Amino acid sequence: MSEIPERQEVVELAKRRGYLYPSFEIYGGVSGFWDYGPLGTSLKNAIVGSWRDMYVVRHGYEEIETTTIGKEDVYEASGHADGFSDALASCPECGTFFRADHLVEDHTDIENADGMPKERLAEILADEGVPCPSCGATLDNARVEEFNLMFETNIGPGTARKGYLRPETAQGIFVDFQRLKRYYRESLPFGVTQVGRAYRNEINPRQGIVRLREFQQAELEYFKRPDDEIDVSPVEDVEVRLYPVEEQEDDDGEPFVTTVGEAVEDGVIESETIAYFVGRSQEWYESIGIDPDRLRFRQHLPDERAHYASDCWDGETLTTFGWIEVNGIADRADYDLRKHAEYSGEEMGVWQEYDEAVVREETVADPDMSVLGPEFGGAAGGIADALREKARDEPEAFEGDEVSVTVDGEAYTVSTDAAGFERREVRETGENVLPQVIEPSYGLDRIVYSVIEHSYDEDVIDDEERTVLRVPPKVAPFDAAVFPLVSKDGLEEHAREIEEKLRQAGMRVKYDGSGAIGRRYRRHDEIGTPLAVTVDYDTKEDGTVTLRDRDTTDQWRVEKDEIIEEIESVVEGDG
Ligand code: GLY
Repeated sequence: MSEIPERQEVVELAKRRGYLYPSFEIYGGVSGFWDYGPLGTSLKNAIVGSWRDMYVVRHGYEEIETTTIGKEDVYEASGHADGFSDALASCPECGTFFRADHLVEDHTDIENADGMPKERLAEILADEGVPCPSCGATLDNARVEEFNLMFETNIGPGTARKGYLRPETAQGIFVDFQRLKRYYRESLPFGVTQVGRAYRNEINPRQGIVRLREFQQAELEYFKRPDDEIDVSPVEDVEVRLYPVEEQEDDDGEPFVTTVGEAVEDGVIESETIAYFVGRSQEWYESIGIDPDRLRFRQHLPDERAHYASDCWDGETLTTFGWIEVNGIADRADYDLRKHAEYSGEEMGVWQEYDEAVVREETVADPDMSVLGPEFGGAAGGIADALREKARDEPEAFEGDEVSVTVDGEAYTVSTDAAGFERREVRETGENVLPQVIEPSYGLDRIVYSVIEHSYDEDVIDDEERTVLRVPPKVAPFDAAVFPLVSKDGLEEHAREIEEKLRQAGMRVKYDGSGAIGRRYRRHDEIGTPLAVTVDYDTKEDGTVTLRDRDTTDQWRVEKDEIIEEIESVVEGDG
């Protein structure tokens, strides 16, 4: 594990070198909004590419793209309109807003106040004499209320049609589920992915780069029959650091390292499918530059779970902001599809054929209205409905010559012949099953930031300190830098020619011709470029160039024609 850097150094490097820029900086910025500069965009795109490679390409979980604005109905059904809120405390003196649970965590021994009832939070603020972080007044009379985190908007002119900026990409997948199940020919299990922006109107984001109001998610919704589980064997030997509920609730409890296979065998992770995605996440994180010593999977405490989740394991990275959640793997059961079926009135179940048809008896009534009408007049319709219900629920009542039903408190007797009672055999070939959902959901911005922090290193080369970003070559913003040793004697033209050749071969390269060669190496070490190609006087003579490795600083000469192959072998990991 490389040494944990100072946050200021990392953030300063990220800003100075073009990874991250504060949004609207020339207008003073607003917390919770960050832009990606050229290097940050390249790193993020490479990370997204490798995520897609894992899930869309290697697992076949195809990707869709849905709108970022959602009609109000969507979020009423999903429960976000009601339940997606944080506890808001406002200072009675200066009016500044804070998250009440964060104030409590900061001033008491309580480690996780998220999910505590607002009345309890207000009580603790008063009892502990918690001061307002802005003006210092005590918050004993502070109001604590629920603040919904969704950004609201109006669709079209006026306020008649409300919309919300989506708080998660997941809902787009659930709302399109009817079409998706047909696309997949009703064949469970299947996975659907989405990568895109989501929005949360955080009360007072204090964690700079890692708590954003506009952020990017990569989500997988894995739809399965209740008994389907993904076999963990492909990842059973993957080592993971787990922090289950029991360890968190025990005063001496600690996270521990185990394998995915053992975690399932020992019942630490109950769902094999969740365990599978924990294993895949671990492998993926390591492949993009997350330090395994600074990665763990923590199970949500019961009062911490989102309103839709029955179990959840968060991937967490250790950064200079402490342990931060970078992904959640949640068991959403059938919560979302059930809610959307209920609110939209649409069928969300997936037709599942039985292995063998099931034959069962059905009891029905088909009342003869030509008898009931003249006999009961206006009450006949209600009596017919009551007979149908009774035939289904109490068939034994039709065994005599007459049957009685009660409608609006009035008893009626009908002859069994007129009730049209019948027992018949029904052959059932399948049924509609509401799928269960396991959701691995990744917060891309936090992952990008964690990769930058975990890659950040300082060492000493030839008695000179340097900063080096040891990002894995496959996600580094550039594959290689191309330098002329000096900007004269035709070396520039040679270097430009090589740059062009590498670009046309699909490589991400950066030409850099300014300053001393040592400075240029340092600049590219600092932004994580894995290889430098230097053109010098020998290049003119014998057509060879110098390659230099970022991590070892080793240098070796290769023919111009071999550069592409050499870069490929480094980027693909066998260099
Ligand atoms: N879809 C899970 C989340 O947004 O947290």
